[in-house]
Amino acid sequence: MSNLATTGDKTGHNAGLALHPLGHALGAEVAQADLTAALDASAVDAIRAAWNENHILLFRGQTLSPDALIAFAGRFGELDRHDATPFYRLEGHPEILLVTNRMIGGKPSETRNTGRNWHSDYSYTGRPAAASMLYCEEKPPVGGDTMFCNMVRAYETLSDKMKRIVDGLEAVYDIGLTAGINERDPQKTAELRRINPPIAHPAVRTHPSSGKKALYVSERASHFHGMTAEESRPLIQFLCAHATRPENVYRHRWQVNDLVLWDNRTTMHIALADFDPAAPRHMLRTTLLGEPSGFVVDG
Ligand code: SIN
Repeated sequence: MSNLATTGDKTGHNAGLALHPLGHALGAEVAQADLTAALDASAVDAIRAAWNENHILLFRGQTLSPDALIAFAGRFGELDRHDATPFYRLEGHPEILLVTNRMIGGKPSETRNTGRNWHSDYSYTGRPAAASMLYCEEKPPVGGDTMFCNMVRAYETLSDKMKRIVDGLEAVYDIGLTAGINERDPQKTAELRRINPPIAHPAVRTHPSSGKKALYVSERASHFHGMTAEESRPLIQFLCAHATRPENVYRHRWQVNDLVLWDNRTTMHIALADFDPAAPRHMLRTTLLGEPSGFVVDG
């Protein structure tokens, strides 16, 4: 672990890394890490353990080229080539999704409003993202923050009866419920809907590493399978409001050269429109493929 500082301080399961908590509910900063250096297996294991424990990890002060970002992310699993949203990839690097408000091809980027409602990445696909890593290359002078919530705590803080109800549900995910999608090119949006038909996933998922149960319901769920939208909506709204209570949230204020890694199976996030849209915000995202899940539904 030569490129990761160690504390010798046994904190939770993460002895070895220099970890500082970011929020009460979730998040830790890994201090003094250089992600461009080759990571040995023990460093990868230590990061994975810290990630399982804290759900999101922050690495500040990283200078990462696209290739270095891909190399780092690839140490943790198979990288998604973003075929579900093929229009938004970094040219020559399909493993990188652009989240930017810079001009692209003389037009404002279609990803300028990415992530504006609470969600877990690629929940509308058959391999919802295991984890994402977002790297900040440019940020507005104020705002452009991202909020994260802890879906393990969200599940654990439900009453036993409500747990039993949601344990038996599948939420249907619809890419059309991505906030701002209707501001995008209609032809591309139609293609995104064709590639990603509505898909049902368990409303509670068990994390493959930690074995913990996490709520898996977001603002991109249209209804519960077998229930009407009218029947489902109040419960979806309650669960999202419950999951995103202030005590269950961490708000990240970006600095240039931050890399934030989050587990999409145990968190949701939202990219806030809390900044001047004329001020550049330019982020690169890598996405780790999750386990195959779900079944396509008619609607
Ligand atoms: C995303 O939803 O993947 C992007 C989040 C952000 O831009 O803060």
